[in-house]
Amino acid sequence: MAYHLAARFCKNTVSCKFAKAINFSCLRCNVSTVVSSSFEFPNFKTHNELHEFSINKTDEFWASLAHSRLKWLKSFHTTQQCNMDEGKFAWFFGGQLNIADNCVDRHALVKPDKVALIWEKDEPGNQQLVTYRELQEMTCRIANVLKAHGVQKGDRVAIYMPNSPIAVASMLACVRIGAMHTVVFAGFSTEALAARIQDASCTAVITSDQALRGGKIIELKRTVDAAVAKCPSVKHVFVSQRTGADLPNMPLDLPLDKLMAQACQHSAIEIMESEDPSFMLYTSGSTGKPKGIQHSTAGYLLYASVTHQSVFNVGPDDVYACVADIGWITGHSYVVYGPLANGATTVLFESVPTYPDPGRYWEMVERLQINQFYTAPTAIRLLLKAGDAWPQKYNLSSLKVLGCVGEPLNHEAWHWYNELIGQSKCDLVDTWWQTETGGICITPRPSEAGAEIIAGMPMRPFFGIEPAILDSSQKLLEGNDVIGSLCIKKPWPGIARTIYGDHERYLDTYFRPFPGYYFSGDGAHRHSNGYYQVTGRTDDVINVSGHRLGTAEVEDAINEHAAVAESAVIGIPHPIKGEGIYAFLVLKDDVVLDQVCIVSEVNSLVSTAIAKFAVPDHILIVPALPKTRSGKIMRRILRKLVAGETEFGDVSTLADPSIVQVIARLHLDSNRNLM
Ligand code: WT7
Repeated sequence: MAYHLAARFCKNTVSCKFAKAINFSCLRCNVSTVVSSSFEFPNFKTHNELHEFSINKTDEFWASLAHSRLKWLKSFHTTQQCNMDEGKFAWFFGGQLNIADNCVDRHALVKPDKVALIWEKDEPGNQQLVTYRELQEMTCRIANVLKAHGVQKGDRVAIYMPNSPIAVASMLACVRIGAMHTVVFAGFSTEALAARIQDASCTAVITSDQALRGGKIIELKRTVDAAVAKCPSVKHVFVSQRTGADLPNMPLDLPLDKLMAQACQHSAIEIMESEDPSFMLYTSGSTGKPKGIQHSTAGYLLYASVTHQSVFNVGPDDVYACVADIGWITGHSYVVYGPLANGATTVLFESVPTYPDPGRYWEMVERLQINQFYTAPTAIRLLLKAGDAWPQKYNLSSLKVLGCVGEPLNHEAWHWYNELIGQSKCDLVDTWWQTETGGICITPRPSEAGAEIIAGMPMRPFFGIEPAILDSSQKLLEGNDVIGSLCIKKPWPGIARTIYGDHERYLDTYFRPFPGYYFSGDGAHRHSNGYYQVTGRTDDVINVSGHRLGTAEVEDAINEHAAVAESAVIGIPHPIKGEGIYAFLVLKDDVVLDQVCIVSEVNSLVSTAIAKFAVPDHILIVPALPKTRSGKIMRRILRKLVAGETEFGDVSTLADPSIVQVIARLHLDSNRNLM
């Protein structure tokens, strides 16, 4: 298989310097929206050769893709100007473009009736199709509504909505006018929402009256009302109708659907510089305060587009489904921006995997004839547990590529997914990446015919990505069969540009732990065959069902309880969620409250402060925590103790070594069936 350079330049333009190699049509010139199933480079026979080229001639590699895959309003003059030590990244400098123009307008122009979104509503069997023309119209109307209410380039807009076309159009409307959106997952609590709106100083919020998830009503508007009361920066709350519930009107409310109907269906695009910020998305770190991860315009979009095309091998008539929520980065890069930049048909899944029954995904695959399906390991494990009869009821033969992301995919789940869902004929891609990387960084590369895929690991670095494994003394570990901290050596276009309002924290978290490298926070094993396996976080971050939570974030919420003196939270293995949460509580001396009551109050505190998924699976009240003499909580010891280990290593540095046995006894007594 040969890879042809810049395959998607204009075949009609003789002057196009890449035209010779091409049998496809140009996205830059809007001549046609034909979307090739993989971008191609002529001089390389294998992915390995092309990967080498992408590492050795990084600028050439990305520049040619930037030219061929994006529509520029003004071409860039410098491919990259990056400095890892200062955390400064500039890609495609001097260029101008607009993300909405790339994701919607250019496709609406030449293939207006192609389906852009298939909205798989919560109500089973209830899909709604949205064409590129319709998406453009919705986007323009929302853009006009926002502008009419004073939202301008550079402003921040919070989006708190269920997966729905109007939510996608709201994201696109923001990038159309150059406002930064910050989508907040519609499961986050009032306090979590308010904290994000405050940190970003959002001037507007876009929400829905209610959401439906698995047949249950979620009171989005009420949550927004309570949050906005604490957010003086917010001037307007745009409310769209999902259920049509009769809700109280608040002073800042504006009826989005009505205003859209009155607005013009055309709207000019804002000219954006390549490095202008596009959006930010909050994610948990190892301290209490979530980080507003800020992404760029050109680099982010190109990286989302190229990875989506190459990893999922989406053909022009394919139906591609990533069932993530738009509240997470997967929803941004692989429900919205990657697929739409590529002119694909992307499914927008509003429901949950078990509603109305555990056959939901598979019934949907059959009904919508889905070709690529991307989900999370936690969902696979949940459905595996529900039994083989569910997938066996449906015809899954349309599937060609299966993907997963969020945490390691264990062997049992890998085989079930591959055999029961993929019927052993699909490429199964375990994709490793992060909110901060913008797009997939390590993955088997299925667009190479016949490539070997091994269970239980994401395997190969993506084009332009050079992983490195370093040990705790910051030494680079060369060769194979090494385990250490997973870093990335060279900048890539999709890398996050900063933490909103806190560049120092960005440097401290990602670039200072291993000077000269981007540090992911994960550990990895480079096996003897050179393939990568990601072993999990090395910092104080817990991964619950693929959602990141900082131990400090949960502890902060718990410590709000008047009876709690202090707490320590650790991640513990969980058969479905990957990791569960175990919280150790020390109560104040004078507490007279019943312990059962405290546990239930602490649970509801966490749910209110963060979200339901952050509620501890297990709480143990202990007389003290294992601490060093300098007061640092030794979570490592708590982890060992819960894992049933009896050897705790050197405990002599602890202020009170005897506490370890006390906690171990309490743990055994309290919960013999926990593990
Ligand atoms: C963390 C990033 C990127 C979208 C989903 C989560 C873990 C992600 C894998 C994988 C092992 C994985 C890592 C990473 N993770 N994918 N294929 N194998 N671990 O995004 O919330 O930014 O979390 O998820 O620990 O650091 P996120």
